[in-house]
Amino acid sequence: MNKFLLVSVVLLGLMSCQNSTKNNKQVTSNTTQEQQDKKPAFDHKAYKMKGMIIAKTTFKTFKTKIAKVSENGGLPAVVDFCHDNAMKITDSIGQAHHVKIKRTSHKLRNPANKPDIDEEAVINEYLKSQQEHKPLEPIVLKDSEGYVHFYAPIKIKPACLSCHGTPGKEIPENIYKMIKEKYPQDQATGFKVGDLRGIWDIKFLDKQS
Ligand code: HEC
Repeated sequence: MNKFLLVSVVLLGLMSCQNSTKNNKQVTSNTTQEQQDKKPAFDHKAYKMKGMIIAKTTFKTFKTKIAKVSENGGLPAVVDFCHDNAMKITDSIGQAHHVKIKRTSHKLRNPANKPDIDEEAVINEYLKSQQEHKPLEPIVLKDSEGYVHFYAPIKIKPACLSCHGTPGKEIPENIYKMIKEKYPQDQATGFKVGDLRGIWDIKFLDKQS
């Protein structure tokens, strides 16, 4: 079922991507060869598909591990677990796929996840789309060093509220105290279901020339 869902999502993404390519073609059909050459020389669709699969795998891994930790030690154990392991998990999944996986945000919990200039631009784009009630689509871009990045929105689900909702309301007092102790500069609270929490940045380490 999940596999089916994933395939459907990827197919949907591909379909919408194909539509936009068609439109582009129509627009550029009268353009010169020089303009045609400026088109990106890499396969956007393939990167989008790979990126989506890696982001889903990472999310699923987190979910499975967190469910196990939570069963044994409840929310406090999960906060400890995230504090000690969040980056280790993204790093090890990244290594397996030859990518660098980062989660970043406009409202950070861990200052080490600070966005770079490209990530900031993507976040601002998504915040704008969210304000205008437009869908937030994954984005594939090449950075100034020639690396391809896959960006996708991370949205708040009900399960996130116990650590990213409103302190004292959705976040129990003892949990908020723990979070503040570990992350004195925490800004990642006050979210509602459906809000943009941050983004995935998946950097493909094999350069395309
Ligand atoms: C048990 C508490 C807990 C829950 C539940 C939780 N988070 Fe977090 N979240 C944390 C902690 C702790 C960190 C900091 C991890 C680190 O040190 O890198 C964090 C960091 C993040 C970050 C990285 C950016 C930053 O601010 O440092 C994102 C994105 C994020 N969480 C999204 C989510 C989403 C989406 C959900 C729900 C699916 C969720 N979280 C559920 C505790 C939680």
